[in-house]
Amino acid sequence: MRKAYIDAIGMYVPPKVVTNKDLEGMMDTSDQWIQERSGIQERHHVDGEGTTDLALKATEEALEKAGMTAEDVDHIIFSTMANDYFFPGGGPIMTKRLGIPGTPAVDIRMACSGFLYGLSIAKAFIESGAYENILLITSEVQSVAMDFSTAGRDTAVLFGDGAAAVVLKATNEDRGLLSVITHSDGRYAEDLMLRTPSTLDNPFLTHELLDKGYGRVVMNGRNVFKHAIIKFPQVIREALEAAGVEKDKVKLVIPHQANLRITEAVAKRLDLEMYKVVYSNIHKYGNTTSASIPLAIYEAMTEGKIQRGDYIVVASFGAGFTWGASVIKW
Ligand code: COA
Repeated sequence: MRKAYIDAIGMYVPPKVVTNKDLEGMMDTSDQWIQERSGIQERHHVDGEGTTDLALKATEEALEKAGMTAEDVDHIIFSTMANDYFFPGGGPIMTKRLGIPGTPAVDIRMACSGFLYGLSIAKAFIESGAYENILLITSEVQSVAMDFSTAGRDTAVLFGDGAAAVVLKATNEDRGLLSVITHSDGRYAEDLMLRTPSTLDNPFLTHELLDKGYGRVVMNGRNVFKHAIIKFPQVIREALEAAGVEKDKVKLVIPHQANLRITEAVAKRLDLEMYKVVYSNIHKYGNTTSASIPLAIYEAMTEGKIQRGDYIVVASFGAGFTWGASVIKW
């Protein structure tokens, strides 16, 4: 049966590194608090680069590794929470930046689950025979929407900027995306959001709205935590069942890098050995929203932790709330 598989992957993080010590100089926080609560030591922040700047660098690497040129891309799926412009989205902009005008492109804004939703669309596109080569780009610039005063410290310390791109291709071999499960629940929309610009206001952008802090990301961290540690294991079990793969066969679980404490709690609930079966690189990048899973796949591959034929599970939870998981035979 025709399947979609990940053929190549590229990544890019902006060069500017912001350590926990650097944050201590901006707000009332400490390296110890951040490490204990999240496992994060440093993250990368843009310094003038925009979302499609990061995306382009990650894409160039992915295309080179796939042995493709941009002209070989049949369809772009572009995932971000913060685009270059309010509209149009980054997808069409990437056709300009890659020099492939006319290529179809779809934007998705599914927060930390953007990669999972991207996989589900790519899987359907490829399995239906509609397309052969899909470019799934995740690119996130969150630092510009954070409040780096003490008022925003519970959120600002967690997020980082970065991008990753994957090339998905069609195959008839015994490999690829065996299952992709996605969910959403808007009852918790206000628990992690960026309110302005909003059509609830007319005009949708005013100094008053910005003065209220509506132009910054806000989060109910405790509620996010509470739901994440339930939904991650649930959806991983769902994806394993849909793929017909036993948990013991899984070589590596790569969860969205939200927070090391969440990852550890999920490993415990699934009875998985943390640091052997569950991958984490959050200490270097923080939470890079939808880029975090492909970024982690990239690094796990570089470290030789993923080989052809391995069963890999990727899973996400984030704003919306949205969550999902996929079982991939590499
Ligand atoms: N530095 C120092 N102190 C901080 C701080 C920071 N960066 N951020 C918050 N605090 C303070 C709080 O103000 C509070 O102080 P108080 O007791 O004087 O009121 C104290 O630390 C404890 O705050 P609390 O919110 O109870 O901490 P917590 O143990 O719930 O940890 C999070 C906060 C955000 C780390 C935690 O809730 C979490 O990980 N949530 C999930 C977030 C996430 O992963 N989001 C992305 C999902 S995609």
